[in-house]
Amino acid sequence: MRKPILAGNWKMNKTPAEAVAFVEGLAPLVAGYEGVEIVVCPPFVSLPGVAHALRGTRIGVGAQNIHWAENGAYTGEVAAAMLQGLAGYVIIGHSERRQYFGETDEAVNKKIKAALAHGLTPIVCVGEDLAQNEAGVTDTLVSGQVRAAFAGISADDAPRVVVAYEPIWAIGTGKTATKEVANRVCGAVVRGTLADLYGAEVAATIRIQYGGSANEKNIGELMAMPDIDGALIGGASLKTDAFTAMIRITAAKE
Ligand code: 13P
Repeated sequence: MRKPILAGNWKMNKTPAEAVAFVEGLAPLVAGYEGVEIVVCPPFVSLPGVAHALRGTRIGVGAQNIHWAENGAYTGEVAAAMLQGLAGYVIIGHSERRQYFGETDEAVNKKIKAALAHGLTPIVCVGEDLAQNEAGVTDTLVSGQVRAAFAGISADDAPRVVVAYEPIWAIGTGKTATKEVANRVCGAVVRGTLADLYGAEVAATIRIQYGGSANEKNIGELMAMPDIDGALIGGASLKTDAFTAMIRITAAKE
């Protein structure tokens, strides 16, 4: 059985003080929901404070990006090794990084390998934009992103990776993919591609999240779908009430 994982991607929001205050408020509210793996992903500068505030709780901490190199002349970047003690997860290849910062499939693959080498759980984002969706190339594109992301990753390591299917047209737009569409891409396309790469048995252990305008109103029906194992949540994860409700609803499904 795959344990559902709800991760809040805060993107570029909240100061370090706001981040700490937020998680201090959140932790007691969600302490009882043991059937759900919970992660918050603040900006780098908030990781030390948030990690400290969440020590001893069951909320995990994730970064939003890493560089693939161990260290070196990469101004403005952060290496996986530097997250030791601060984060157990890292979002890799978010569409905003692909779109605004030129992140390629090859970079995504190198970052996943760096994350795994340092014991971090990568949350790897894939998904098509509106034009690609309308052109009917979603399946080919997403499948290609999955293949590129997992290139050179062994069947032993593959289950340590979480995949997030985030259709770009659904991110921050209030237009959620229908549960049928989200489940079909998570299942037939993402898990299907993973089955091609690693066999059905391994693919069945890999967690696949949906992301894109997920909120407390639609999370229940999304989580009821067989191939959706959690959500990567932007806007709603910044609000205590909404995020807590989403965790409660997901826990109730287990
Ligand atoms: P929203 O939930 O705000 O649409 O963002 C989704 C997302 O990009 C999470 O990584």
